[in-house]
Amino acid sequence: MTSGVADRPRIRHRLPPARWPTREEAARSRWFSPLPIGTRLVAEQRTWVPAMVPWRATEDGFVTREVLDWYGRFAEGQPGVLVVEATGIRDIASGPLLRIGDDRFIPGLKKLVDVVRARSGGHTRLFIQVIDFVTVRRRPEPARYFERYLEITGSLRGRLARALGEERWLGAPEAEVRRSLLAADRGLHEAVLDSRELEALDYGYRERVWDLHLPHIRELPRVLPGLFAEAARRARAAGFDGVELHYAHAYTMASFLSRLNVRDDGYGGARENRARLPLEVLRAVRERVGDDYVVGIRYLGDEVVEGGSRLDDAVWFGARFAEAGVDYLSVSKGGRFEDAKQPKIGEAVYPYTGESGYECMPTVISDGRGPFGRNVPLAAAIRRAVRAAGRTTPVVTSGGIGTFEQAEAILERGEADAVAAARQTLADPDWFRKIRLGYGDLVRRCEFTNYCEGLDQRHKQVTCKLWDRNLDPNDATVKLASDGKRRLSAPPWTPPAEMTCRS
Ligand SMILES: Cc1cc2nc3c(=O)[nH]c(=O)nc-3n(C[C@H](O)[C@H](O)[C@H](O)COP(=O)(O)O)c2cc1C
Ligand code: SF4
Repeated sequence: MTSGVADRPRIRHRLPPARWPTREEAARSRWFSPLPIGTRLVAEQRTWVPAMVPWRATEDGFVTREVLDWYGRFAEGQPGVLVVEATGIRDIASGPLLRIGDDRFIPGLKKLVDVVRARSGGHTRLFIQVIDFVTVRRRPEPARYFERYLEITGSLRGRLARALGEERWLGAPEAEVRRSLLAADRGLHEAVLDSRELEALDYGYRERVWDLHLPHIRELPRVLPGLFAEAARRARAAGFDGVELHYAHAYTMASFLSRLNVRDDGYGGARENRARLPLEVLRAVRERVGDDYVVGIRYLGDEVVEGGSRLDDAVWFGARFAEAGVDYLSVSKGGRFEDAKQPKIGEAVYPYTGESGYECMPTVISDGRGPFGRNVPLAAAIRRAVRAAGRTTPVVTSGGIGTFEQAEAILERGEADAVAAARQTLADPDWFRKIRLGYGDLVRRCEFTNYCEGLDQRHKQVTCKLWDRNLDPNDATVKLASDGKRRLSAPPWTPPAEMTCRS
């Protein structure tokens, strides 16, 4: 059972009105007050930019000039914490996503650290999110699927023979079985293909972490602690202030935590078993980087899919992670493959297209609750459980937050310890600084309509519709996206010259 927008009428919500603080009010506020994280680090503010993949790395996963510009531009807004995008821990090709699966990636990542230090004036703490994912293939052309990809097994032959009432299919040449399936109608496909084979035809082949018949999936608990630990070591060597383990959304570690995880090798089923690998990874990372280095976890307060983990699981996991010594918990929601829409042929399924995807990045077309601060109750419940377990581990919330008042009220009510904003910071990377200097009325406000997410879905360089067409044909310094139509970075902002602050 889900509890989101799918089953309720949707309406278009207006942005909440914003009253921006004076510089003095901002200075006295909770959001702009320091936050200790772990044993040694203090973030200067509780403002936070969560991970956002911008599709700017090389095809080999290296840092590019565009990656440096992307993070440098966020650094100019001087958030308390900036988290670098989901970065792959394996040494395998994964398109223009950053990678940290080998020491050869360290020099580029070092440059990224240096750029953020310099452009934030040393005010921003920089973490890097590290991720593992299993195979997801593009939706195939039916002809290719039946001619090449589909495995012709004994059980498939049996179902074909039964469906057609002809025994001969049990021993017919494989090429003939393939031809007959290619020529068959949908009804016969549904009678002959099992649910995973049909899914591979309709959505593209996708592995599950409970596919124990696949040796590399069976081995995940053996290999992942070492891979994450090595990635964390490289993060430290590159100079990051901390590492964030990506246990959220559609990827490997979130799937281990999922109630859908039916592995029967001690790593699935009961909650204790589902949390086992995530805790083993955390332990391995901690051993590799030491007690004085920040190790955070981003995970789901609710998967929002049929049969998946809900808040009661998340509350339990949160307390266990805190007891195991994680330095912060960043709570997200949804973003799963299970309810994703069917992709076009040749495209891969995108985990932010279904209801769980909506809940991850809510838009203004919403149910009566609207998108603003929609996920805060999850963080609040997790924080209560962590405190009840005797831990002070900071909890970070995100989702539809775009004003100072929202953030301040969340902190005042004790619902979270830091308040993150992804899309609002993309819309205006300077917004934290503008608010702090008393120029809140100059904030370019995110409209929460997800143009940026549409670009992410097509693996196009992510930009914001509020500034990407703001092009001066005479300004040769503006870098354009590969389509030649959009600027890659938000226009620069300097405080009005005549007065550097307002009171
Ligand atoms: C373009 C884009 C890329 C994202 N990439 C990541 C990612 O790499 N890792 C992650 O945990 N969340 C990712 N997210 C989710 C955001 O961190 C955030 O949880 C979500 O957008 C909701 O927060 P918001 O309402 O402040 O945007 C991404 C969001 C966007 C818009
Ligand atoms: S593209 Fe739309 S949703 Fe994305 S940051 Fe800009 S205004 Fe916000």
